[in-house]
Amino acid sequence: MTSVTCSASFPAAHLASPPAEGFADVLVGLQYGDEGKAKIIDALAAGYDVIARFNGGANAGHTIDTPFGRIALKQLPSGVFHPHATLYIGSGCALNPWKLADEIEQLREMGVPLEGRLRISARAALVQPHHIALDRRGGGTIGTTGNGIGPCYADRALRVRNDKRVNLMLGDLLNSEADTVASMRDVFTGMINADGGTSPWVAEMSDLLLSLPKVADTLRAYIEPDRGWLANRVKQGARVLFEGAQSVLLDVVDGCQPYVTSSHTVPAYAYVGGDLSPKYHRRTIGVAKAIMSRVGRGPFPSELGGERSAQYCDDASQSHLGVTDEQARFSPEQLLRSNDPFDVGTALRMLTGEYGTGTGRPRRIGMLDLAQLREVVKAHAVDCVYLNKVDCLAHYFHSTYQGVPMRVNRDVLSSDVMPDVLIYPGLSEHSLTLGREGKLDAAMHGFVDFVERQIGAPLAGIGLGPERASLVSLSAHQPALVVAASPHV
Ligand code: IMP
Repeated sequence: MTSVTCSASFPAAHLASPPAEGFADVLVGLQYGDEGKAKIIDALAAGYDVIARFNGGANAGHTIDTPFGRIALKQLPSGVFHPHATLYIGSGCALNPWKLADEIEQLREMGVPLEGRLRISARAALVQPHHIALDRRGGGTIGTTGNGIGPCYADRALRVRNDKRVNLMLGDLLNSEADTVASMRDVFTGMINADGGTSPWVAEMSDLLLSLPKVADTLRAYIEPDRGWLANRVKQGARVLFEGAQSVLLDVVDGCQPYVTSSHTVPAYAYVGGDLSPKYHRRTIGVAKAIMSRVGRGPFPSELGGERSAQYCDDASQSHLGVTDEQARFSPEQLLRSNDPFDVGTALRMLTGEYGTGTGRPRRIGMLDLAQLREVVKAHAVDCVYLNKVDCLAHYFHSTYQGVPMRVNRDVLSSDVMPDVLIYPGLSEHSLTLGREGKLDAAMHGFVDFVERQIGAPLAGIGLGPERASLVSLSAHQPALVVAASPHV
């Protein structure tokens, strides 16, 4: 809902008119994460005053190429390289203070200081050394990223263990640093004692504890104790873009248990974890990609190679095999011509660079699942969708598919009417190349129309290459996403 202006009931001749209130849009991934959300935020950032995170922590991540080199950001909101934008990290996040301080320092070294631009809710949960150790020890069943996010949220809900508070928050570092460090040390020591001192991470975790006071010094300037900070900005006219981490399908309740992350990733949660009233909600923007991927375990109905691919990627991530190993072993051009979908999936991973940003793990690859997207769009009332990596569909033209395979129907029951998988014949490499030059021919329009009809939402843009310029805006299809700059912020 956008704001409603009520007329004042008293003469306003000598009063300055109140500033128009702002609004918030929520941008979320619609598949299994890694849909290229940062790239879309980069394109939309000019239309917003604040870019805000509301969930997750160092389990997210995006790599940005800058004139000063490449930087991998995990916890800072996208938009750091848009100097006009204020960055906010809401109370729904689970923060690794060491990595956060490191990101801030790296940016400072690149000439991008964040003083005055970054606010972090004092109520954001604090990832502690024992969370990281527990996640590394027990996260394998799910295939977690090992960042301690699940144990951190678990302690937030637990609140107290053995009469001691375990739900530490960033504000605790600000208000009682020595107690916070002591409390973390106690819990971690208790854990290693219970293990008989066999934990392989003792030295690493002790170093973390030792460096915490220095980290607290770095973070102090950014911690925001006022829970109404974002609301006040919006009341003064700020336009907010909430940036979801992970994806809707990995939501801790809504996703497929137990193969989910431990936070809420659905757009409605932006207003809880992002510390703003939902009355400011304007629209929900979804991001998907045309070649799908998933890291970790769990169902993936359109996976090329099915269970075999899931097992292969799981084994590879356990034995830390990544892109260089695959490049040494396989020829993607050859695999692409195989009749085996598993081979095609491997080829697509190699040709489109689908390896974990933080972990380097090979991602499981799947065809575009329009049936799944339709359900997600409907469930979360997504207003418009950006579809990334459409250029990558060109690889299918060199495969035995001879067209673009897409899952259009949900499993067998109704398949006497329509098959599960459809090979879309109408696209060509020529259309995709033209598209990169900003010219959409009839075949590209036909593809866009087909996808829109299938998913029940307009496509606001399509990604036809990694560069900023190759994101083609489909303005005829999209509701106006950018409004005139607000003078009140
Ligand atoms: P966790 O969030 O580290 O607990 O991992 C839980 C599940 O979410 C695992 O399957 C992870 O691979 C997945 N996951 C977490 N963060 C991301 C992400 O940023 N992209 C894709 N998958 C993720």
